[in-house]
Amino acid sequence: MTKAVLTGWGTALPEGVLTNAALEARLDTSDAWIVERSGIRERRVAAGDETTAALASAAGAEAVKRAGLTPSDIGVLVLATTTPDQVMPATSSRVHDTLGLSGGAFDVNAACAGFVFALISASAFVESGRVEHALVIGADLMTRITDPADRMTAVLFGDGAGAVVLSGASGDAGDAGLLAWDLGCDGSLTALLEVPRETGYMRMDGREVFRRAVRVVVDSGAAALAKAGLTAADVDVFVPHQANARIISAAADRLGIPADRTVVNIDRYGNTSAGSVPIALAEAADAGRVRDGDIVLLSGFGAGMEWGSAVLRWRAS
Ligand code: ACO
Repeated sequence: MTKAVLTGWGTALPEGVLTNAALEARLDTSDAWIVERSGIRERRVAAGDETTAALASAAGAEAVKRAGLTPSDIGVLVLATTTPDQVMPATSSRVHDTLGLSGGAFDVNAACAGFVFALISASAFVESGRVEHALVIGADLMTRITDPADRMTAVLFGDGAGAVVLSGASGDAGDAGLLAWDLGCDGSLTALLEVPRETGYMRMDGREVFRRAVRVVVDSGAAALAKAGLTAADVDVFVPHQANARIISAAADRLGIPADRTVVNIDRYGNTSAGSVPIALAEAADAGRVRDGDIVLLSGFGAGMEWGSAVLRWRAS
């Protein structure tokens, strides 16, 4: 079988910064509470005229360039988002047009687990040999569905996008590429985190999401590693969904992955939903934290409840 190898990555973050101090000024909260309970210090907020498609396009363009490709080389675009610009058409259509991509394009909605679901979906196209290069983007403007007056959610979420390119492994890729994955869903838990039609804003049972998140990140991560014939001791770089620094450290501890192998950037961006895993991965790659041959564990969870893990052996060509 052809392997799907990650060959490019990119990010796009709005310039607007919302600090804890600014939130403190308008909500019954404090910088100390937010930092202690979530690890977040600031998050990015899109300007009124910025769109999910625009951020997604910027991240996607960077990933395609980084992979040494042109947009017409892309055979399929899979865009994960919970905050599409419109219900119809799919946001991926606009990105496809903006970038001048080839092939098809579609959106995936699996909330904060969206990027992992999109990655696994795209990998199937590449592994089948029918698509040579796939573009996978996670992009969300979470501040658009966050009630600015709800201190529980307003402090947690931010806007951002990240993207990767998956390419069919050529002969010299060795054993690099996607090795194994695990996806899951428990639809009996939809009430834990949802956007009721009446308000258009997220409503969240934070404590229960927290408790369940740690469990699924651990179980799913261990399951994906086992399918790859690996254990947590083999993981060189753990890139978890950035929802809460305490969820990340609890899950990493239980998995047995040390802090110096765990990527955390939540302090600067908060929870960017589908953007969070690819942004964290791209930053780790740019910082030289991921080397050829490294085992990388990606992990996402979110509303649904949905969760997913992917294990890959790194090769940046
Ligand atoms: N500032 C100050 N106090 C606050 C704030 C705030 N911003 N938010 C809540 N509190 C209060 C609560 O009202 C509560 O007060 P009470 O004891 O009088 O009732 C107290 O702080 C403690 O609340 P807890 O919910 O127990 O606090 P916890 O330590 O669990 O932290 C948090 C809350 C940060 C929301 C945490 O539960 C969390 O991160 N949960 C997971 C959320 C998450 O990951 N969501 C995204 C999922 S991914 C997706 O699909 C989008």
